[in-house]
Amino acid sequence: MENNQMTKENGSNLIQIKNLKKHFKIGGGLKGPKTVYAVDGVTFDIKKGETFGLVGESGCGKTTLGRTLLRLYEPTAGTVTYDGDVIFDENNKKNNPKMLPFRRKMQIIFQDPSASLDPRMTVGEIIGEALDIHKLHQGKDRADRINQLLDRVGLNSEHSNRYPHEFSGGQQQRIGIARALAVEPEFIVCDEPISALDVSIQSQVVNMLEDMQDELGLTYLFIAHDLSVVRHISDRIGVMYLGNMVELGNGREMYADPIHPYTKTLLSAVPIPDPKANREKKRIILEGEIPSPMNPPKGCKFHTRCPFATDVCKQEVPEWREVKDGHFVACHNV
Ligand SMILES: Nc1ncnc2c1ncn2[C@@H]1O[C@H](COP(=O)(O)OP(=O)(O)OP(=O)(O)O)[C@@H](O)[C@H]1O
Ligand SMILES: [Mg+2]
Repeated sequence: MENNQMTKENGSNLIQIKNLKKHFKIGGGLKGPKTVYAVDGVTFDIKKGETFGLVGESGCGKTTLGRTLLRLYEPTAGTVTYDGDVIFDENNKKNNPKMLPFRRKMQIIFQDPSASLDPRMTVGEIIGEALDIHKLHQGKDRADRINQLLDRVGLNSEHSNRYPHEFSGGQQQRIGIARALAVEPEFIVCDEPISALDVSIQSQVVNMLEDMQDELGLTYLFIAHDLSVVRHISDRIGVMYLGNMVELGNGREMYADPIHPYTKTLLSAVPIPDPKANREKKRIILEGEIPSPMNPPKGCKFHTRCPFATDVCKQEVPEWREVKDGHFVACHNV
């Protein structure tokens, strides 16, 4: 990853996301349906060939953002461009393209491998279905291609006739990865691909994803709670809080010099391997619970938990701005 850091940093954008929103309408209680502001105006780019790490507490909207930019969820507002092609524009909805050709280029690996594989289909059928949808390898090399994919993810051709429940969690995630790879994608949303796995096999799966990236020139959006996971694999990192991105920057810079108070809090919770340094490290404990995305605070959404909040933070939404070259922050105190 380090070797081609420079090219990536100077590289062109594969995906451009502007003011993307996904609001869910739920229920119909006494006061009518409620709105969940799951993703609430997010702007960032993903560069060709990079790993963009996306982190934040549970429920902050990471999965929703990943699915909305793929249009697996239809966005509520904003624009998404893929390699120069507009795939969603809120102002031109009638002309938004059919997604099938893009589905081949943009894949997803799911958070929960067991739930993402159809229990009634064999592994061969699962991978074969991805080939069939996109009319790839339809001839006599179809079986070879399935075996080759199984081999690539560390399984073998005998696994082809078995069902998902016959595999361990790590193997199920490998099947999910083979399914994503089958269609020769350029971009993969990796939605917490290792968080459901046993610690002992997490690094195997991460290493495999990194090797595949080098080999195939893939671009990743890598979602994680755990900053220690994304630290090693991400070129750039975006931090989300309650539906918004609050900070984005180069991975090394984000660790060495985080700017947003929320990023500082997240980083203070990451253990340092040296026990002495770890004991002496100052932890910042956030006051209060994460507010509900159905009723987010006005102004800066973080103000209810921020130790530095002032009056302006309670009233005005902070602007998302570039404070250093390539380093973006939304905070009134910066
Ligand atoms: N289909 C849906 N309908 C209604 N609300 C939803 C839906 N999907 C997600 N939400 C809500 O949107 C918010 C963001 O959820 P999301 O799954 O994107 O969070 P996340 O950051 O991926 O969390 P985790 O780290 O736990 O996976 C949550 O409040 C969630 O309850
Ligand atoms: Mg999620």
